[in-house]
Amino acid sequence: MAETTRPAEAGAIPAASQSDQLREFVSFLVERHVLSAGDVKRILQIQARMDRRFGTLAVLKSFVSPHDVIFILYQQTESGEKLGELAIKTGLMTREQVKEVLLLQSDAPRLFAEILVRTRTVSASNLRKIMRDFYEKRGCSGWSGPGRPAGNADFAFPDQPVRMSADKLKIHLRHLKDLATLPGVVHRVLGLLQNPHVEMSEVAQVIEGDPSLSVRLLRLANSAFFALVTKVSTVQKALITLGVNNVRKTIITASVLEKFKGIDQQEAAEYWRHSLLTSRWTKHLLEMQNQRGEALEDGAMAGLLHDTGRLAVWQFFADANAEIRRMVAGGASAEQAEREVLSMSHAEIGGFLFQIWNFPASLLQAACYHHSSAETLGSLKDALPIASVVNAACRISRLPVVSGEDGSKTLDVSSLEPEFVMFHKLDADALVRSAPAVIREANTMLSSFVTQTATT
Ligand SMILES: [Fe+2]
Repeated sequence: MAETTRPAEAGAIPAASQSDQLREFVSFLVERHVLSAGDVKRILQIQARMDRRFGTLAVLKSFVSPHDVIFILYQQTESGEKLGELAIKTGLMTREQVKEVLLLQSDAPRLFAEILVRTRTVSASNLRKIMRDFYEKRGCSGWSGPGRPAGNADFAFPDQPVRMSADKLKIHLRHLKDLATLPGVVHRVLGLLQNPHVEMSEVAQVIEGDPSLSVRLLRLANSAFFALVTKVSTVQKALITLGVNNVRKTIITASVLEKFKGIDQQEAAEYWRHSLLTSRWTKHLLEMQNQRGEALEDGAMAGLLHDTGRLAVWQFFADANAEIRRMVAGGASAEQAEREVLSMSHAEIGGFLFQIWNFPASLLQAACYHHSSAETLGSLKDALPIASVVNAACRISRLPVVSGEDGSKTLDVSSLEPEFVMFHKLDADALVRSAPAVIREANTMLSSFVTQTATT
């Protein structure tokens, strides 16, 4: 396996000096009675046998799965780029994670410490403290290899080994009874609607087998939005009134709500506020791009459901969720923590679920790419217009809300990075002007939405 990202690229320190440093670190641990002579021998043996290639260490840190490494290596044979660069480009690793792996390659004490945690010889919290003391005592003198963390750098050892690999998580997601399958009716209707020449009477017959779905469609067809003179009383008429796309959207949204009806009210409110805001911003940004009709509705739905992976983590992986929160409270980024604990980010989990549910590609892409950097989205921006707009809308929805000159709620756009604004071709002043109406719209929808989720 050819790997081009070698310790030297991280500005590694010479091997001789590394072994001095390791010796010094080990003596420090023994002096403090952290390790016995037997422990030292055992860990050194493991370290000597260890494969220190980039891919192996990235898997050890649980930043990627072995499957991901094969994917990056395959990409490398095509492009000849460095593994670290490819891992960032393909969105499999963050720049911080690549840096962490390169440090592990070039820093013998750090790798020794990593093995101590992985073999549960020393707890992660204890070791973090010891490492800080050690580097402090050394004052970093003699430890000045490039990439060396300064002074009180945080040592990111997890408190326990990762519980789930990405492959294992996918197997879980596929087999979680309440999560993996859509109700039979929904599945059949989505399948039928893929055929543009399908007879509405056939679709109606299937939908009538599910009373709650039938009521939902009748309610929508009779809503003020369609302003019909004559009320619609049959499912078939409702289908004709709504049209294929509206039916598809209604049942997709309904089935996602159905999956996650049990979540905590407060969490639900926070979640749907962000989702509705992202939905409204997506629609608004598409309007600003002069998009009309179907595209706006597709975008609104992609925005509404973009964070479904987060719901799945909350509801089905409560322990993992608690650990992720603890790590985030300790300063880790949400993505870092999710990868550490579950091996996949909530964006990837959402995309994976949409894939097994057979949802349209625009929804899947929006879920997968909603936290991707401009660098990752790159040339995909034009190929995935809805995903790209949802990416921007999600970020805008997280901006602080402030009171405008007339007292209405608007946005503080000062924290938007200029590169982000440029990449998405945004007009920050126009965002501030549009914000009161967009926020108002999302708030109006929120109360009914939360009640609906809790009672569906
Ligand atoms: Fe998200």
